[in-house]
Amino acid sequence: MAGLPASLSGQDVGSFAYLTIKDRIPQILTKAIDTLHRHKSEIFEKHGEKGMEAEKKAISLLSKLRNELQTDKPITPLVEKFADTDIWNQYLEYQQSLLNESDGKPRWFHSPWLFVECYLYRRIHEAVIQSPPIDDFDVFRESKEQNFFESQEPIMALCIHLQELKKTIEDLGENQLKNEFFKLLQISLWGNKCDLSLSGGETSSQKVNIMNSLEGLKPLILVNDTERLWSLLSSRKKTREDVPITRVDIVLDNSGFELVTDLILADFLLSSKLATEVHFYGKTIPWFVSDTTIHDFNWLIEEVKRSGHKGVSGCGVDWEGYVKAGRWVYHDHMFWTLPHAFCAMPQVAPDLYAELQKAHLILFKGDLNYRKLTGDRKWEFTVPFHQALNGFHPAPLCSIRTLKAETQVGLLPGQGEQLTVSEPHWLTTGKYGIFQFDGPL
Ligand code: F6P
Ligand code: MG
Repeated sequence: MAGLPASLSGQDVGSFAYLTIKDRIPQILTKAIDTLHRHKSEIFEKHGEKGMEAEKKAISLLSKLRNELQTDKPITPLVEKFADTDIWNQYLEYQQSLLNESDGKPRWFHSPWLFVECYLYRRIHEAVIQSPPIDDFDVFRESKEQNFFESQEPIMALCIHLQELKKTIEDLGENQLKNEFFKLLQISLWGNKCDLSLSGGETSSQKVNIMNSLEGLKPLILVNDTERLWSLLSSRKKTREDVPITRVDIVLDNSGFELVTDLILADFLLSSKLATEVHFYGKTIPWFVSDTTIHDFNWLIEEVKRSGHKGVSGCGVDWEGYVKAGRWVYHDHMFWTLPHAFCAMPQVAPDLYAELQKAHLILFKGDLNYRKLTGDRKWEFTVPFHQALNGFHPAPLCSIRTLKAETQVGLLPGQGEQLTVSEPHWLTTGKYGIFQFDGPL
């Protein structure tokens, strides 16, 4: 599109995009293949010989995919007819149309990184759906569950903290409530460190109680618009008689520890009456290793509910109750697993855009959502967030993200350059975080 900076891409040798495609993605594919191998006997027990053939087929399709990528083959259209297949293939044609004759076809290392990385996960899914009867096998499920179990201690501490807080929440003064809000927002931010795609699918769980580290982590928040979130929600609460509904939408990212931090925040929003309903958006297919699907969402609530500790299981019971009462609503939409930047949503998924417009505040969790908000482009660090959103303004919104990709906007003059000098990899290690808000002043 004219006037916009170039997309991040694996063409830039040595860039994070390049290293992801060269090293991390093959590693993720190898791990997926290994997972299928290790579940052989389970698949056999469930599906017999047919399952064995399907497992072999899925493995060979994944190996073929790995080979295509490592040899930088042209990106091929999806073959299996599914609800989103035509949209994907049209997008591929669009990518092709952007190339000069001499550039040939879109390729793994030459096309926009956001496109090829999303395409990879869609192809992994295709390999599985082409292999019935194991067409509902989630090659990442095991890692997601492991991440949850390895984070038991901090999860327990957070759940107990929330249960204690809820006992006295009605009596808290304005400032105390605000402090708790900020604390739980920060916990949800740092929870985003625990994604499994950055680590190539290897474990990346939270092992210590994060509540004790928040003060020390504050200087690592490069953009902090939390005051604006507070003023938006608290002023609505004060005029609740005129505005009986405050809806906060959370576009979820990773399952496991991060999802717990998001549900704790969502519970607090209801309990404190800062919101009256919370809507969640997850992924319809396994995505970027650890992203939340409806299965993960329900599984995690059930696991929390089954905890032997009363304080913890109480959270699970409450969360299930919110879902049943319609105060928490989970939405699926295939748009979240398409390669488009969010500015394309009104054209590609007008129904989803209309749904998001009903929110009073939308929280976008994680790095991939940030890349899609800003189009995954080589923006100057000082470009205003509003501009980088490129017309995507369904409702006031806030990105809550730890930095894991080489794109960042809305910094102060010199801030990015200074960080580059002192820490060349500050954009991609997940060490730094942002709360970046866009909405009326
Ligand atoms: O493959 C690496 C990576 O794509 C990041 O650069 C990316 O954006 C991240 O994985 C996923 O992070 P998150 O779970 O925070 O969206
Ligand atoms: Mg993720």
